[in-house]
Formats: sequence, C-alpha cells, structure tokens
Amino acid sequence: MSAPSPDTRKFPPTPEFVAQANLSGVEAYKAAHKRSLDDPEGFWGDIASELTWMKPWDKVLDDSKAPVYEWFVGGKTNVTVNCLDRHVANGLADQPAILWEGEPADETRVLTYGQLLAEVERFANVLKALGVGKGDGVSIYLPMIPELAISVLACARIGAVHSVIFAGFSAESIKDRVMDQKSKLVITADGGWRRGKALMLKDIVDEGVADCSSIEKVLVVQRHLDKEPFPHTWNDRDVWYHEIAPTVPAECAPEEMDAEDMLFLLYTSGSTGKPKGVMHTTGGYMVYTYLTSKLTFDLKPGDVYWCTADVGWITGHSYIVYGILQNGVAQVMYEGAPNSPDESRFWQIVEKYKVSIFYTAPTAIRAFMKWGDQHVVKHDLSSLRLLGTVGEPINPEAWMWYHRLIGAEKCPIVDTWWQTETGGHMLTPLPGVTATKPGSATTPFLGIDAAVLDEDGNETDRGILAIRKPWPAMLRGVWGDEQRFKDTYWCKWGGKYYFPGDGAIKDEDGYFWITGRVDDVVNVSGHRIGTAELESVFVEHPAVAESAVIGVPHEIKGQGLVAFVIIRTGVEGEEAVWRKELTAMVDSKIGKFARPEKIVFSADLPKTRSGKIMRRLLRDIAEDRPLGNVTTLADPSVVDNLKEKFKA
Ligand code: WT7
Repeated sequence: MSAPSPDTRKFPPTPEFVAQANLSGVEAYKAAHKRSLDDPEGFWGDIASELTWMKPWDKVLDDSKAPVYEWFVGGKTNVTVNCLDRHVANGLADQPAILWEGEPADETRVLTYGQLLAEVERFANVLKALGVGKGDGVSIYLPMIPELAISVLACARIGAVHSVIFAGFSAESIKDRVMDQKSKLVITADGGWRRGKALMLKDIVDEGVADCSSIEKVLVVQRHLDKEPFPHTWNDRDVWYHEIAPTVPAECAPEEMDAEDMLFLLYTSGSTGKPKGVMHTTGGYMVYTYLTSKLTFDLKPGDVYWCTADVGWITGHSYIVYGILQNGVAQVMYEGAPNSPDESRFWQIVEKYKVSIFYTAPTAIRAFMKWGDQHVVKHDLSSLRLLGTVGEPINPEAWMWYHRLIGAEKCPIVDTWWQTETGGHMLTPLPGVTATKPGSATTPFLGIDAAVLDEDGNETDRGILAIRKPWPAMLRGVWGDEQRFKDTYWCKWGGKYYFPGDGAIKDEDGYFWITGRVDDVVNVSGHRIGTAELESVFVEHPAVAESAVIGVPHEIKGQGLVAFVIIRTGVEGEEAVWRKELTAMVDSKIGKFARPEKIVFSADLPKTRSGKIMRRLLRDIAEDRPLGNVTTLADPSVVDNLKEKFKA
C-alpha cells in the first residue's frame, strides 16, 4: 500500500464555528486530552455522570483482567433509557427522532422521541412474548426501515444480545453468524427495496436458518411486499410482527443491565478464517458513543443529522442508533441508494430535511465526483454546517471536492478513523478545535493515546498504528474465541498495546495519516473483506487447486479485489464458465459486495522456495509496477506468464 504524501494545506475552523462549538479551541482540547490520559477514571466518571444510571459504578476502570478491560464496574443502566426515556422525561417527547425516507420517494415516516420509545417498548414486549430474554441472542436482517433501529433498541431494552447482519449478506453468511451466536430468533422483513428492485429478504433468511437448530422463531416485519404473492413460504415458526404486536402490552420497563453485560455482537472480517463476533458491552460503549457523537459532530438541539451508512455496520450502530439518539437530535434515516432514482438523491434529501450534519464514506464522495457537479449544484445545501467521512482513507482530491462543493468552504470536515472493534471514533478532528488537513484523520479523541510504532514497538514517523491505553468502547473479546482475541489484537507488541491492523504516518504537527491495512484485509467501499475468506470460497470449487486474492487501488471503491486462481492439472473447462461459477459462489457464500473486479486464471503463483505465495509480487503485477526482488522465487518464469495473463 502506497503511503499518501501528507498534504500541507491546513483548514482551520471559522471563528463563527469555534464560537458556538461544544469544545472550542486547541487549548481546551489539549487540557481535556491531558486530563483524560492523566486521570482517565476522573475524566470518564464525569462524562458518565451526564447520563442516567440505575445504580452508580463502584470503579470506573478495572484493568486486572487485561486485555479484557472493564469499565464502570458495578454500575447498572439501560442504554435505551439514555437514548429515549431521558429525552421524553426532559420534555422532548414531541421532538422528531427519526425522519425516515423510503427508497420510493413518496414513502416517508416521522417518529418523535415519544413515538420511538413507544415502538421500542412494544417491540420489546413482542420479543418477550416469543420467549426472548436477557442474554439471548437475536439476529437482525432488515432493510433500512425504522424497525431496524427499533428492533436493535428493543433488544437492548430487554437485555437480549443483538447481532445485526447487513442485508447485503448471503444466506450462508446468515447461517454462519446464527450458528456462531446460537441465536434464538431472527428478525427480518418480507422484503426491501434496492434501486427499484425487490430484495427477497425472508427467502434468504429461510435458506440461511434452515439448518440452525437454535432458531425458535422468525419474526417478520411487513415492509411492502404484501402486494405480491409473498413471502414464498410460510413456516410454523414464522410470526408476522403486525399480527403479534397488538396482542402484547404497550409498556416495557427497561431491564437493569450491568455495565459489563453484553449489548451486541457484530461480525467483521479479519485476516484469517471466518468473520469474528466482536463483543461490545453496555456501559463503556454507551458513554463513549455519547461523548464522541456530542463532540465530533458538535450535536445541538435543532440539528438535523444524517449518516448515510447502514445500521448493519458499526457506523450505523454507534452513529445512527446509540450515540446519536443519546444526544436527542433529529436524524434522517434513508432506505435507498445514492443514485436512485437519480444521482441527485442525497442532495435532494439534504435540501428537503435541511440536514445540518452529514456523515458519509469517501467511496460515495468519489462516486458523486464522477457523476458530475450538476447533480449537486441544483440543490440548496446551505443548511449544512458540518461534514464527516468514515470507513477508509480519503484522497485529498475527494476531500477538496467535499469541502468546496458540499461544504461551501465553510463546513469543517471530520475524517473519523475507527473500527468495529473500537466502538467509536479514535482519531478525528474536533470541529471547533482542529485545523484539518485533506486526507488526515488528524489527532486522537479524548481518552485516546495513539502512536505510530515500528515492529519492535519503538516510536517512528511511518509505521503501524498502536493504541496505548484502554478506552471505554473497546471490544471485550471475540465471541467464543478468547485466543483469537488475544492473537489478533494484543500479540504484536507483547500485549502492551492494541493493534488495529492499520499503517500510519505521524507528521511534524503530530497529525496521523492512515495508510491502509497492514494485514490481509481489503477495504472495498469501506467494507472489510478478508482475502483468506474469499480464497476459501474459491477453493471449494471442484476445479480450483489454489487461489490468492489481493487488494488493488480502485478509483471509486478505494480498493478492489483481484483473484488469482489456479485450476487443477488435468481439469478441462472454459475460463468464462469458471468465472461465472466462482462469482456466483462469492454471491452465495458472502454477498455480492465481495465480488472481485477481476479473476485471473493461471498455471502457477509466484512462491518462495518454502512455498509461501508472494503477494507483494501479485500486487506489483496487478498495478503494473516494476517488479521488486524476485530472486527468492522458486520459479521466476511464473511471473512473466502471470503478467501476460493479467493483461489479457
Ligand atoms: C477499518 C475498520 C469505522 C467504521 C467503518 C469501518 C478503515 C475506517 C477510516 C478513516 C482511514 C479508515 C481502517 C480500519 N478506516 N475509517 N477515516 N481513514 N481508514 O469499520 O469495517 O471495522 O473497518 O476501516 O482500515 O481498520 P470496519
């Protein structure tokens, strides 16, 4: 991965922005950051006190079980109380919480905080009626409709552990996740819309859970497909939400949760094996998403926030559901695609709802640049006051376009670096503080002690990102696999620091520049895909002997996937047919979003004499670079053949 050459331009926030910000000025940040590191218990205790607890904690941080750090030990709370009841009690019952915009533009729904609380309570009682209780696993496979947020919060209300499965995943991915968690219930919808096409979600769930003995019920929300003969099958265990909901009580008291009780699992890809269930608990995650939302997005009453991510990813968990609702603002939730019905849809939504804070991914920004400014300039975007990006490094060109065309050169841009595992923002500008630089995630959030280290743990200006101190929203483990948790995140520097898997540069101002993954994880449009996961899909094809998948730069997606596939000797067939079959296997085993850009069939792969595939050489070939050192290759002629094959 090539490192960006740090851009030297600097964009300080306007004096007007600084004057009204929740945190203003570099001095205030420095003082707060220093205190957060010198006295984390005092700092985080104060923040947690801004929220509602059923019983206060005995100790803010317990590091005696490191690397499993525990926060707010002994405290009891329920995160939904801080997302909903607290606002309703404070007179915000009639304030809009969710401004939902369906993919079909005429379908909209507004839920106030009072209505959202009522919906969550009823949904929670439905879960109880179906036998779900505290600690039980619930898988959620829904489109971006209000019930997605409602069902997540309903689980939290009763202490069930939700695992949201992004609705672009395949049946087999559902199966893997349900089996790993041993979920009792799946929540889905009859269908969903994507660019005018109906997605058959219930059919996919049926296939996914067919062999999952832990599943007792499938709860089905009626989205819209009642107009068609759908769903295709109806099983004994299936329950329509709209039929059961009126039969349960309206009120559901929040379950008293220990700060360290599990809140959710979210599966994410790593460099080896199947996706792992990242564990997040209640108290620390609640406090951290509350504060990061408040400071990074400068949330205030009257703001209309919009995050374009799906709740199926961590971005949606932390910055659609939990962090944003705890701050009591209104937010847009959009079901559809950025280019449906046309390429101006996002900007039309910004104008319609007078969005003030807009959070999206660099891949979307690059797509808009390509589609052309005409889709943007015809809309009034003057309501915007703050912009954010997340998911992958942003190239300075895209940053500048965002700054000029969307932000009218006045909106601060927060480039937030974080991960499923970190639960919330780790490196990010603070909009009333930081002079931003295009392409840099700038400086650590409060409580975060970040460094760039070499392999031996020495500080350097170009190396690997490390986090030196625990923080409240950090993952507590990998579900069912303690060893994998330790090996993946804590082994790099002898257990001393958290290893996120990213490379980084630290410049002379102490700003961080993320250079991309340093492991075998590829970031396609902000989605993490493990190359090993894809390789294991390919080798299941009877004709395939071996495969190697790499990430290559992609104009829009940031990175794309290229697969090199070796066919077994003696097997006859056509490349075009194999290509189709392999693509179909990716669709059915992972999801369409994991399809490679290119599948190259070759007779051999470049290997060292000890048999290790030289991925570096594969990347050189794919990017048409002069080849690095090839002297360690067992058979140097392999490379020439591959070059030809790649170009063909
Ligand atoms: C990986 C985490 C964080 C929510 C969405 C993705 C990359 C994320 C940035 C950024 C450069 C970024 C990293 C990280 N990443 N944000 N602002 N600049 N890289 O969550 O699926 O857990 O992926 O996304 O490589 O490790 P995720």
